[in-house]
Amino acid sequence: MGNVVVVGSQWGDEGKGKIVDWLSSRADVVVRFQGGHNAGHTLVVDGTTYKLSLLPSGIVRGSKMSVIGNGVVIDPWALKSEIKRIRDQGVHIGPDALLISDTASLILPIHGELDAIRENRADGVKIGTTRRGIGPAYEDKVARRAIRVCDLADESHLRERVDNLLHHHNALRIGLGHDAVDAAQLTQKLLDIAPSVLQFAGPVWHHLDEASRAEKKILFEGAQGAMLDIDHGTYPFVTSSNTIAGQAAAGSGMGPRALNYVLGITKAYTTRVGEGPFPTELHDEIGQRLGERGHEFGTVTGRQRRCGWFDAVMVRQAIITGGIDGIALTKLDVLDGLAELKICTGYKLNGKIIRRFPAGMSNQAAVTPIYETMPGWSGSTQGARSWAELPAEAVKYVRRLEEATGCPVAVLSTSPEREDVILIRDPFKG
Ligand code: GDP
Ligand code: IMO
Ligand code: MG
Repeated sequence: MGNVVVVGSQWGDEGKGKIVDWLSSRADVVVRFQGGHNAGHTLVVDGTTYKLSLLPSGIVRGSKMSVIGNGVVIDPWALKSEIKRIRDQGVHIGPDALLISDTASLILPIHGELDAIRENRADGVKIGTTRRGIGPAYEDKVARRAIRVCDLADESHLRERVDNLLHHHNALRIGLGHDAVDAAQLTQKLLDIAPSVLQFAGPVWHHLDEASRAEKKILFEGAQGAMLDIDHGTYPFVTSSNTIAGQAAAGSGMGPRALNYVLGITKAYTTRVGEGPFPTELHDEIGQRLGERGHEFGTVTGRQRRCGWFDAVMVRQAIITGGIDGIALTKLDVLDGLAELKICTGYKLNGKIIRRFPAGMSNQAAVTPIYETMPGWSGSTQGARSWAELPAEAVKYVRRLEEATGCPVAVLSTSPEREDVILIRDPFKG
């Protein structure tokens, strides 16, 4: 029995929330280790829908400890309103159920504003961010001028930190034609929100070490997906953190040996929200149908997700860079009723066949997919909870995805509902 890391293997929204919620029945602690409230994880439990952005998906299970690690960027106001929203749905959230790293960096209003200023620039490279200030907050963290959770408990130090931060930001804001921010006002705003965060704050690394020594099972919940990873994704159309499993250790304060099994959540087709290359994107009625059947609208921004065929080249790459041991294949049911299905197994670039996604922006935009075609199925996979319920063609499709990606399917999901899952291999048993 070991710990499990759940990560997305595509461009996010693979169904991580549903799988983490389902797997959390086997875990004691659920830990977020990167990203922020750009994530949108939807869980459906007995017909009730929960939409989580910053809170770990284990929170709805009551008896589990939910942890927000140092690698996460936290908007205190967004945290406060999400806690209220989820409490209003009847979920208990107290310091006994939620622990927030005292060394996590904060997202401030200036970060969201800067994110929007950049995205609104008519002549710039638009990333299509969630405008939550994620990129600017991580920039400040790396530049060593971020305000961290622990700073909220130290008023005189906080004033110094805010002055130092605004020394940089006000020059930038004025240069971009925006008003400077008043240091005293921002400090006061932070002091006002501080108790909402500090009541949950503590040394996450220490808590996880104790949990580990007590042989508690830890489930790490990734946000976004491998192709949005700052190093391994479709740069610059990525998020500003490492989204792959390796980050689970650094973003929580545990050593890499604590990561025993990596489960790559993988949609049975592909979606992407925001700008950037997407070789298998469909602009026809099949793409539209996938979007409608899959309800492919962003949880955070409500934007329509772009849809396309399964890209086995990209998922294979994600499996390698992320050290994925097994796939949790989700949304197979969305493919029900399609006459045929396509799987991308290579690309053409400048007349040559390649089996890897190239690095440069121009080449990434220029590749065209090479497809294999498979028959679809007329029966239903929706809500199936055993292999025996799957049409033969659906089983063949799953088997082909395993071959093409080089990774076994450990879990299969067939509807948004918590229990509509086929377990092939228990990730906690390795
Ligand atoms: P995440 O960001 O990876 O947690 O994924 P999202 O929650 O943003 O998007 C996945 C959506 O698909 C959610 O609305 C889920 O309720 C839904 N979902 C998850 N698994 C399945 C599945 O197997 N079938 C169907 N039809 N929907 C699913
Ligand atoms: P979950 O956890 C899908 C995308 C944005 C944009 C890019 C950068 O729900 O899978 P950012 O605001 O992070 O600077 O935006 O990343 N993006 C996501 N796409 N799912 C997500 O999270 C995402 N989080 C960010 O759309 O293209
Ligand atoms: Mg999502």
